[in-house]
Amino acid sequence: MIKKIPVILDGDPGHDDAIAWVLAAASPMLDIKAVTSVCGNQTIEKTTYNAGRIMTLVGLDAPLAMGRVKPLVADAIIAPTVHGNSGLDGPALPEPKNKPVDKDACTLMAEILEASDEPVVLFPTGPLTNIATLLLLYPHLKPKIRHIYLMGGGIDFGNWTPAAEFNILVDPEAADVVFTSGVPITMAGLDVTEQALVFPEDFERIRAVGNAVATVVAEWLDFFYGFHRSIGYPGAPVHDAVAIAALIRPEIMTMVDMFVAIETTGDYCRGTTVGDKLGVLNRPSNARVIMGIDRKAFVDLLAEAAAHYGKGA
Ligand code: RIB
Ligand code: CA
Repeated sequence: MIKKIPVILDGDPGHDDAIAWVLAAASPMLDIKAVTSVCGNQTIEKTTYNAGRIMTLVGLDAPLAMGRVKPLVADAIIAPTVHGNSGLDGPALPEPKNKPVDKDACTLMAEILEASDEPVVLFPTGPLTNIATLLLLYPHLKPKIRHIYLMGGGIDFGNWTPAAEFNILVDPEAADVVFTSGVPITMAGLDVTEQALVFPEDFERIRAVGNAVATVVAEWLDFFYGFHRSIGYPGAPVHDAVAIAALIRPEIMTMVDMFVAIETTGDYCRGTTVGDKLGVLNRPSNARVIMGIDRKAFVDLLAEAAAHYGKGA
């Protein structure tokens, strides 16, 4: 019997967060202790509501807590052009079975870490606001964080600006707190997530699994691909699921340890994850950066996860 790894999911669902959580909830390796929402793709109210709907869809019975209403310093940036006005446009979803708990995300995360008899993995797949708040308010709990597998940044390019990726750009101050915390980090940035493309024929493979969750995942992909197709992508980059896959299937990826700094100033570069690939700064590595992935193996993983939720209708 493999001992499950205690984890916390923190995200801004968001279609790719939702697919990441379908993958996480299907994994026999993970024990999901809590889910926390963050302001990112949509307002905190909408991402929290979406989180509750996803948890109900996959039958995830864990506490859900609402994150901070805005980034640490900056004003919120949302992404309705990508995820729609609800933040999770597309298929009908069940109403949340449970309400969020009567405490904020940071308090719930701290309680889970405190109570755990072993260090816990954090999976932030949105802006790092909640994670930074946890580290700032509860520095004594750092040893109870086993590893942070995050989706964010991009060493070679950005997506929301030429230099910055959305999650980091929304809250660069939070990202700086996380990347200077000393907590082990695996970074699934655009360098790898833009390779993690799911093509329309893959959508049909997942839809053909035939259960309710697989059908919804296929319809999330249909919607999410709409924006990316309009800007020339051959498939949907399921960014956030790469962060989960990095723990459950690292062998399908290539990773490089390097020093990564977060730019928090600049008209053009605020929110950039500056990766010292050549080691010119002589600073110790603070992140394991994923630079490559076996795309087919990644899609296989998503299809396997979809099949976890039962055989066809
Ligand atoms: O840049 C991609 C990231 O921003 C993903 O996490 C997506 O969900 C959005 O949060
Ligand atoms: Ca996200």
